[in-house]
Amino acid sequence: MQELKIGDKVLDFPLIQGGMGIGVSLGRLAGTVAREGCMGVISMVGIGYREENYYKDDLAANKEAFRKELAKAREIAKGKGIIAVNIMAALTDYKEMAVFAAKEKVDAIISGAGLPLDLPKLVEGTETLIAPIVSNKRALELIIRTWEKRYHRAPDFIVVEGPDAGGHLGFKEEEAEDPKFKLKEILRDIIPFHKELQAKLGKRIPLFGAGSIFDGCELKEIVNMGCDGAQIGSRFIATEECDVSQEFKDLIVKSREEDVELFMSPVGMIARGIRNEFIDRVKGERVPSKHCIDCLKPCNPATTKYCISDALTRSVQGDVENGVVFCGSNVDRIDSIRTVKEVIDEIKEEFEACE
Ligand SMILES: Cc1cc2nc3c(=O)[nH]c(=O)nc-3n(C[C@H](O)[C@H](O)[C@H](O)COP(=O)(O)O)c2cc1C
Repeated sequence: MQELKIGDKVLDFPLIQGGMGIGVSLGRLAGTVAREGCMGVISMVGIGYREENYYKDDLAANKEAFRKELAKAREIAKGKGIIAVNIMAALTDYKEMAVFAAKEKVDAIISGAGLPLDLPKLVEGTETLIAPIVSNKRALELIIRTWEKRYHRAPDFIVVEGPDAGGHLGFKEEEAEDPKFKLKEILRDIIPFHKELQAKLGKRIPLFGAGSIFDGCELKEIVNMGCDGAQIGSRFIATEECDVSQEFKDLIVKSREEDVELFMSPVGMIARGIRNEFIDRVKGERVPSKHCIDCLKPCNPATTKYCISDALTRSVQGDVENGVVFCGSNVDRIDSIRTVKEVIDEIKEEFEACE
C-alpha cells in the first residue's frame, strides 16, 4: 500500500482510529495509532471530566485537558502519522473548542453529529486540516456547497459513516436496520459525486468509509470501490493503549451480537451500544442530571430522559452497568485485548493478502 498524502501530511497506511467519547480515545490511544503511521483521533466531548473545575467551568477544564492529551499524543507519536481531534458539531462549545484546537496546531479536526457548516471559518489562518463525517450524499453536497460559497474551501478529507457504527448514528431507527442504508450502498451513491468533485477541484480529497469495518479484507473491499481508506472505532477499544477503564474493555471483549442495541440518545439521535441495567431503566423512568453543564445543543435539561454525558462518564470510569457503553455492531468479532501495533499489523497483512 502506498502512503496517502492528506494536505501536507502523510499516512503510511490509510487508517483512521475513530474519535470515541467520553474519554475513550484520548492522547494515549491517538498517539499510539499515529506512531504506527495511521491517524489517531482524540475525542473532544467531555474531555475535561477528570479536571477539578469540570462542573464549575467545563470550557476551561476541556481546554486544559485537551492541551494535556494533545501533548501526550505528540510525545508518543514521535512525529509519525497524523493526530486529529473529533469535535461533534452538536456540542454547545463546538466553536470555542474548534478554534482552540486549531490554535494548538492539532493536525486535523473531524466533525460529525450535526453539520459543521462553519468549520472552515473556525480554523482560518491555521494549517489544521478539516473533515466532515457524513451519513449520506445530501449532507455531503450541502457541506461542500456551503464551504465553497462562504469560504472557498473544500474538505481536506471526508469520512462517510454507515449505520453499523458505534455511538450516535445519522440515521432513523428503521433506516439503521434497512439494507438500502448499508455503508456500501451509501458509498456507491457518494463515490461518483466524490470523483467529480476531485476532478473539478483538480485535487485529491481522501475518502474514508466507517462503520463495522473490521479487517484488512473489508478495508480492501471499500478501497476497491473507490475509497482511500477506513475509519475504525470499536476494535481499538480492546487495546492495551485505549484510554478507557478496564471494565469497559472487558465488556467489549465479552459482549456478543445479542447484547448490542439501538436506543434513543438525548442528543436526539439514535445510538448503538451494549444493553445493560441503565439502558433498560431509562426506557421506563426519567433520570435527571445531578450536575448539568449544558454540553449539547439539542438536549433540553428540563425534559431530557437522562444525561448522556453523566452516563458516558460513569462507564468510562468503570461503572459499566450504570452508564452508557457505546459500541459498533461488530463487537461480536472482538475477542481479546491486544496492542494497537498488533491490531494495525494484522489489518495491514490482511490488506496485502486480500484481492
Ligand atoms: C465508544 C464509542 C464512542 C464514540 N464516540 C464518538 C464521538 O464522540 N464522535 C464521533 O463522531 N463518533 C464517535 N463514535 C464513532 C466512531 O468514531 C467510529 O466512527 C465508529 O465507531 C466506526 O464504527 P466501528 O466502531 O464499527 O468501527 C464512537 C464510537 C464508539 C464505539
